[in-house]
Amino acid sequence: MSAIQIQHVSRHFGDTIALEDVQLEVKEGEFFSLLGPSGCGKSTLLNIIAGFLQPTSGFVYIGGENITDLPPYHRHIGMVFQDYALFPHLNVFDNVAYGLKVQKMPRKKLKERVMECLALVRLEAFAERMPHQLSGGQKQRVAIARALAVQPSVLLLDEPLSNLDAKLRKDMQFELRSIQKRVGITTILVTHDQEEALSLSDRVGILGDGKLQQLGTPLDVYRTPANRFVAEFIGQVNLFEAYSADMQPASSGYRYEVPGFEVDEGVPLSIEVSGEHGPSVLFMLRPERISILPEEQNGQSNGMPATLTEVGYIGNALRLKAALIKGEITIQAPDPQFPRLPKPGDKVYIDWEQEDLVPLGLKEEPNGGR
Ligand SMILES: Nc1ncnc2c1ncn2[C@@H]1O[C@H](COP(=O)(O)OP(=O)(O)O)[C@@H](O)[C@H]1O
Ligand SMILES: [Mg+2]
Repeated sequence: MSAIQIQHVSRHFGDTIALEDVQLEVKEGEFFSLLGPSGCGKSTLLNIIAGFLQPTSGFVYIGGENITDLPPYHRHIGMVFQDYALFPHLNVFDNVAYGLKVQKMPRKKLKERVMECLALVRLEAFAERMPHQLSGGQKQRVAIARALAVQPSVLLLDEPLSNLDAKLRKDMQFELRSIQKRVGITTILVTHDQEEALSLSDRVGILGDGKLQQLGTPLDVYRTPANRFVAEFIGQVNLFEAYSADMQPASSGYRYEVPGFEVDEGVPLSIEVSGEHGPSVLFMLRPERISILPEEQNGQSNGMPATLTEVGYIGNALRLKAALIKGEITIQAPDPQFPRLPKPGDKVYIDWEQEDLVPLGLKEEPNGGR
């Protein structure tokens, strides 16, 4: 059953169209992320689900019930904000107890419930602390405990980890996922961090310009992006705008050529495609799918000769740019298991498998603009 259904939701702010006809369903118990760049409408959609904002048109259902006109406090939703929004004058216990006191829960039961929630986020020992005596990660855990205390049917998280430093953010990502699994609560996480969305979620919705660009598992959206926007937003990418070279099928399919790229003097980069496509196709090639060999090790490899133009070492990998005879390609290679790093100017051979070229459908605009 769908826990949450968003039906044709649009939201305008004056002339700004923050959301346009968004349709999606989140399943019971699912960890779902809304991923997109800043300003694409993520918070607007989350606030519409929470009831803090009304859609200009469309409907929101929770547990099969149309709740579009229901005020926030009747929606059984727990929400966590980027800035934690703890009550500064209340200690940890009273922050978590807040919603339960509003519900007039009896004292003994309330205490049990608060301690249960603090145990869930591993903060039992911090009940007496004031918010200013907590680290960023601890504050965020209090905010999560507070949201879960009232046993909501849905947990909404708006960029909850983006104020934390990189290492703590990674730890909290695992923790968030493990809390969500233990509680089994339907969760929507809003984030602009693609790694966070991919690593935590059962499914991801990619928002761009107020429109839902793609809905799928992390694997779907990374490996088979629906369009150029998704391909470029999720990770790094080489894009090739290829044009049909001959109308007759070649041995393994139709042949396309990529203007601006040459693998040898006067020899264009060409791509063979099984089945029929249009006169032009946009292909994606992920940087980590490209293999790279130093010149002297090339032997009988059929790689393309290239010259490194940029070398960036990021610890677990190398980020490289390599110039072909004509055109430049971005490569990501695992940390080399030999002492010397390659350097700009080094001659190499690069290669990839035919299946690593993923067609993104027909190219819509002549100059590849979006
Ligand atoms: N209250 C508001 N008044 C006017 N414009 C708004 C308001 N809230 C959001 N917007 C606009 O709507 C768009 C989407 O905003 P938002 O949902 O906050 O994006 P995100 O959370 O993805 O960064 C932006 O262009 C933003 O400026
Ligand atoms: Mg936002």
